[in-house]
Amino acid sequence: MTASTARSSAATTRQVVLITGATAGIGRQTALHLAAAGYHVIATGRRVAELEALRKDAPGQLSVTPLDVTSAASIAAAVAEVDRLTDGHGVDVLVNNAGFGVAGPLTEISDAELRRQYDTNVFGLMAVTRAFVPAMRARGRGRIINVSSMGGKMTLPFFGAYNSTKYALESLSDALRMELHAFGIDVVLIEPGAIHTNFGDTAMSPVAQFQDSAYAGALAKAEVLRKRMEATAVGPEVIARAIHKAIRRRRPAARYVAPWFGNVILGLLALTPTRLQDAAMRRLSFLTRGTLDVDAARQRAATATPPAAPRARAQAAAPIN
Ligand SMILES: NC(=O)c1ccc[n+]([C@@H]2O[C@H](COP(=O)([O-])OP(=O)(O)OC[C@H]3O[C@@H](n4cnc5c(N)ncnc54)[C@H](OP(=O)(O)O)[C@@H]3O)[C@@H](O)[C@H]2O)c1
Repeated sequence: MTASTARSSAATTRQVVLITGATAGIGRQTALHLAAAGYHVIATGRRVAELEALRKDAPGQLSVTPLDVTSAASIAAAVAEVDRLTDGHGVDVLVNNAGFGVAGPLTEISDAELRRQYDTNVFGLMAVTRAFVPAMRARGRGRIINVSSMGGKMTLPFFGAYNSTKYALESLSDALRMELHAFGIDVVLIEPGAIHTNFGDTAMSPVAQFQDSAYAGALAKAEVLRKRMEATAVGPEVIARAIHKAIRRRRPAARYVAPWFGNVILGLLALTPTRLQDAAMRRLSFLTRGTLDVDAARQRAATATPPAAPRARAQAAAPIN
């Protein structure tokens, strides 16, 4: 698909906002919110049909262009398309929103799954940032809004892989904020709590593969609890408003937690000793001896064939002739 322009390049008189991962959830809602507020929104994502549907939902108000944040070719094509759409002006505000989570016990999540998380949430985000920063630097003005998570400050059992990518994003954003300040570029973190989007279903979808694991019972109970809690989660418009606030402010804060009561949870956690936090989280996640199949897991481990000695060690032990 070639990108579709909502308005002519006269749109460059409005602030140009590029959003990644705008085919669903927070990104989609933010695109609609900012387009309605008068920004020149360039909504990007992997699924072309969803981008077209989004454009139709805001007729004449936003542009769309494909962008997979894990593909260098896709990023290069998006930069060229943005140049065309904005008559070489580039992006004023970059909203790095694309991301996903994979839930599961850390010792059983594969290396490939862990890397997939980092490829999108960390390396993809950095690649997109590197691609759009030069135009901001040349203009001496710009803003980067990184959608992190409250999970970038606290870790939930079974979400260690995902949470660790957001911890990384927190640190990268802190460094970027200081390094880009002198160039007139602000870097802002948005830290959502639980938001009702596709996120939970995506994160829990690989969990079935752990049905033979000692964690199967705990995961099943955690999934029931998640579904119950999801019914009370707020919608993505809360985050769209927080992002809008971070764009509007002349001097934005470094971080915005949304919804606001997330600040209370993070504040309480900061005052609670780690061992106490662990105990509470273990109970909430059913990580108790009663739910975990500890004895069966031990028996399985005891009867399992010991792994073969690594080749290098065997060679090192061999006599030298
Ligand atoms: N929902 C929550 O409770 C919550 C809480 C804290 C933080 N967050 C963060 O908020 C952001 C948005 O998540 P969401 O809740 O809106 O979830 P969502 O409804 O699942 O939307 C995720 C979006 O990211 C896109 N995406 C994933 N990989 C991509 C890639 N390689 N290139 C481009 N786009 C990609 C998805 O595209 P496809 O449609 O192609 O899959 C989708 O548009 C994420 O960074 C997430 O970590 C969410």
